[in-house]
Amino acid sequence: MLTDKRILLIIAGGIAAFKSLDLIRRLRERGAWVTPVLTRAAEEFVTPLSVSSLAGEKVYRDLFDLTDEAEMGHIQLSRSADLIVVAPGTADLMAKMANGLANDMASTLLLATDTPVLVAPAMNVRMWEHPATQRNLATLRADGVSFVGPNEGDMACGEFGPGRMSEPLEIVAAIEGAMKVGPLSGRRILVTSGPTHEPIDPVRYIANRSSGSQGTAIAEALVAQGADVVFVTGPADAARPHGVHLVEVETAQEMMRAVQGALPVDAAVFSAAVADWRVSSASDSKIKKTKDGLPTLEFAENPDILATVSQMAEGRPDLVVGFAAETDDVIENATAKRLRKGCDWIVANDVSPETGIMGGSENAVTLISDKGAESWPRMSKGEVARQLAERIAKTL
Ligand code: CTP
Repeated sequence: MLTDKRILLIIAGGIAAFKSLDLIRRLRERGAWVTPVLTRAAEEFVTPLSVSSLAGEKVYRDLFDLTDEAEMGHIQLSRSADLIVVAPGTADLMAKMANGLANDMASTLLLATDTPVLVAPAMNVRMWEHPATQRNLATLRADGVSFVGPNEGDMACGEFGPGRMSEPLEIVAAIEGAMKVGPLSGRRILVTSGPTHEPIDPVRYIANRSSGSQGTAIAEALVAQGADVVFVTGPADAARPHGVHLVEVETAQEMMRAVQGALPVDAAVFSAAVADWRVSSASDSKIKKTKDGLPTLEFAENPDILATVSQMAEGRPDLVVGFAAETDDVIENATAKRLRKGCDWIVANDVSPETGIMGGSENAVTLISDKGAESWPRMSKGEVARQLAERIAKTL
């Protein structure tokens, strides 16, 4: 619930502005106060009357409106909010925010405040992928701005790809997460992610194809539900999730130590693709080619982090979730793996190359628990993460 939370909702000019009307309703249903601000361009898509009727509050429209200024100065307006939400966040407004411009009501409010800001971007896929927008995104993230979405899909402009504004309920979840009032608030959850690198010598290592994108999405979905997330990641390609306690490691042994350091937690999700073996004969100096033949590598088994935590006699997390990346007999193997490792759930997926799952943006998983196997339809890794986070919230 968002009872009596004050949200300043900035609606910028994009076709997704129509979804912001529903967002206002959803926020009001949860007990929040919504003060709406419309940019001039937004008024081309939604009317001030419909926005103020739904919000039950006056709409703030332009910096130089003398009545608005007399009633409540823009500085006070943005500071009295618990959270500023920008939805839709257009490329233009993101660019202004990233560069500190303040030439209208919305951008001035955003510059004149230290209230946390959450942006739900919405724009054409090319605009989203443009280096300028990606640069602005990185700048804003570094400034502490949070983001929800954009989602991937068919767009109003007829193209397909990332750029669609998140759905109102997804934005509500992110707002609850930003305010730490989601169903997982007060819960500490550990997530491992990415591959591990096992050195052969100072310049070479053994790795695997995990991108870390599923683990990152899970961490973000848990944060959106209000959880306090410790994110232990190997050297993954995926961007690091926001709003987590980040611990970066390289090897399986380092990951094991980081996990032990993060305990106790209420739940632990082990999505990392941990190397089963390390090179026990790793050399401190670069191995050179010699005429004496090929080098021989000797291996030692790495600690099984999931099994260790699942089988803790004391202080075991209430819920331990493992992953199983399989190429054959997925359900059978994963069911056996759940019992062998002692975890509560296994999220199993088929990582045969033809599925395109490892390193791709989609996943088709089967959730295995003591109740049996439940196959979920193929969906984006973000959606898998959201549904898994919801399950975790219901179970804890
Ligand atoms: N895992 C772990 N520590 C390891 C190896 C795996 O925590 N040293 C975790 C992974 O994060 C994942 C689960 O165990 O949640 C499954 O890992 P997987 O490598 O698929 O299972 P294995 O035990 O290696 O079984 P097999 O090689 O027979 O598939």
